[in-house]
Amino acid sequence: MNTLMDMTTDLGAWLSNELTAVSGVMSDHLINKHEEVNVVCGELAAYKGKMLRPSLLLLSWRAVSKEDAAPMAVRTAAAVVELIHLATLVHDDILDEADIRRGTQTLNSLRGNEAAVMLGDYLLSSAFHLCSTIKNPDLNLLLGGVTNTLCAGELVQLSHRNNVDLDIDSYFQIIHDKTASLIAASCEMGSMLGCSDGSFVSVLKDFGKSIGTAFQIKDDLLDLLAKRKDIGKPAGRDLEKGKLTLPVIIMLAQNPSLRPDVRAAMGNNDRVGLHDLLQSTGSIDAAFGVVENLVDSAVLGVKGVLSSESSMQLCKLAEQLKRPF
Ligand code: FPP
Ligand code: MG
Repeated sequence: MNTLMDMTTDLGAWLSNELTAVSGVMSDHLINKHEEVNVVCGELAAYKGKMLRPSLLLLSWRAVSKEDAAPMAVRTAAAVVELIHLATLVHDDILDEADIRRGTQTLNSLRGNEAAVMLGDYLLSSAFHLCSTIKNPDLNLLLGGVTNTLCAGELVQLSHRNNVDLDIDSYFQIIHDKTASLIAASCEMGSMLGCSDGSFVSVLKDFGKSIGTAFQIKDDLLDLLAKRKDIGKPAGRDLEKGKLTLPVIIMLAQNPSLRPDVRAAMGNNDRVGLHDLLQSTGSIDAAFGVVENLVDSAVLGVKGVLSSESSMQLCKLAEQLKRPF
């Protein structure tokens, strides 16, 4: 598996061990008495990525906990956030009509939209069912709010399709809701489970919010700049789907007269033309600058109050977002 950190260090070995346990919790919980369901869930294996959200939850737990081995509640919570994430990916690929993710065929392209809708629902339902086994209603309440927010983010994004007047605050709200909210909740839940007096929960939640926002801006930059074969998913899909992303919004805020050019690029699906405009106005660099600022503020917030090895590792993960690609 592509890993987030050096797994040969003691902390890396700990995380790798925990992630294996988390994967076990997920697959055990997905097992169904109907073999047909197991076959479809088995196809999800290809979607397995770096398990960013469970890793953030585990490291946030360890950053504030006095224990060494993650209790079952922590592993289960980590499995729950990954199941929710997988549900959103399966549904997102239907919305985006994406045929590949992580270099393999998406569930919608393999089995059609009907099966993919139901699989996403099954994953989401399984996530909440699994969460209930922790018997901590605060976690269910928090995650219910987050999944509402994820769906609202997608709905608002859809309502702004092809809207060249989309302002920067609305863009930040959309990416907070559709992406950063679950990443923030992963850090928040880990710290809630790690320290009963609630110390550092807001610090780690804010850290997650900032890196989650930076993560989505970077993902949008990849969609604009990278090639399909390098990212293992469709490139240029934001333009095709009429989604305005940060470099375009920055460019239009500074050069309102370019609105017709952006509209034309969207209408003609002219990725090269849009890229040239963005490049010549410095808007791509400006968007990378926003990523850097978000990472710096995330790291500053954590380093101000925590100094454990796990909290330093969280900061290193955040710094990786600054790499161009
Ligand atoms: C990725 O955006 C999309 C998300 C992170 C959120 C998707 C959320 C939904 C589809 C709502 C459904 C919610 C639940 C709870 C099942 P992107 O298309 O920019 O990223 P990509 O490049 O990885 O496709
Ligand atoms: Mg997508």
